[in-house]
Amino acid sequence: GVVVGTAAAGGGHLGTGRDPFQVDERYRALVGSEFSSVTPENQLKWEYVHPERDGYTFEAADDVVDFAQEHGMVVRGHTLLWHSQNPAWLEQGDYSPAELREILHEHVTTVVGRYAGRVAQWDVANEIIDERGRLRTQENIWLRELGPGVIADAFRWAHEADPDALLFLNDYDAEVVNAKSDAYLALATDLLAQGVPVHGFGVQGHLVLERDPPGEGLAANLQRFADLGLATAVTEADVRMVLEDGRATPEQLALQGEYYANLVAGCLAVAGCDSITLWGFTDRYSWVPSWFEGLGAATVLTEDYVPKPAYDAVAAAL
Ligand code: XIL
Repeated sequence: GVVVGTAAAGGGHLGTGRDPFQVDERYRALVGSEFSSVTPENQLKWEYVHPERDGYTFEAADDVVDFAQEHGMVVRGHTLLWHSQNPAWLEQGDYSPAELREILHEHVTTVVGRYAGRVAQWDVANEIIDERGRLRTQENIWLRELGPGVIADAFRWAHEADPDALLFLNDYDAEVVNAKSDAYLALATDLLAQGVPVHGFGVQGHLVLERDPPGEGLAANLQRFADLGLATAVTEADVRMVLEDGRATPEQLALQGEYYANLVAGCLAVAGCDSITLWGFTDRYSWVPSWFEGLGAATVLTEDYVPKPAYDAVAAAL
């Protein structure tokens, strides 16, 4: 059956400097009791796990991985090759291409190797294509400095470090057939033809109530990747909405439930779509309000852990 997971909030979360997963016992217990998979929301990103050129900090990520093991949960690792949340020493350093290659190789080998056998899936490449279907060759330091061949390298290095891990391409606004998902289909086809160990395509599932109506689009899109022989997954589901006076209306919340149900149904409709991860499960720690002004209420539980219609909609759709 399909695995249902959540992000574990942490990594200097919301600027508080405290990881909810580490300090909020109620939150932590719910991660263990409600879900069978977990993704460290920030704890494995470069800026947290590799804050200095010669220094890694694994404590927060270890905590999530250890917890998952104790609770028989799967871990999704996030992420290795991305344009965002990189440390200043990397983004502002002055490295030759050869040095950058070695930096990436060492990072992938070190991080994937540390969790070999314990992190089942990795988002190796995250958000490397823009909405027009072009590789992000400006913002992404790896693509900019090393060229598109670095994508295959990252997958190969990750595979060497853990031959059993499933390795994913992952992005937002790629849920349905569009220029971005078309470009991923072409990229995946090309990588597979080269024998690159790419195993899955993840759609993040950060939906907007006013923009992304439910429908057949998700299943139709994922099926294209399944037809290539890839696993698929919904990796970061949430449904944000415009709040009036800081609050969601009952109508908005009912509609939100339909969006969540559609994400679940779309995944279930496709053979090989084997996991659905919510990007947090309580509005208390959702990333949405601090990233999108005036939007919120994106998760399935209120700030006080009260189930919203979306909670029942997800349960009913599974
Ligand atoms: C977000 C986290 O939820 C926030 O806490 C952080 O401040 C910024 O990143 N796509 C991704 C995730 O791949 O890593 C992002 O997570 C959300 C969008």
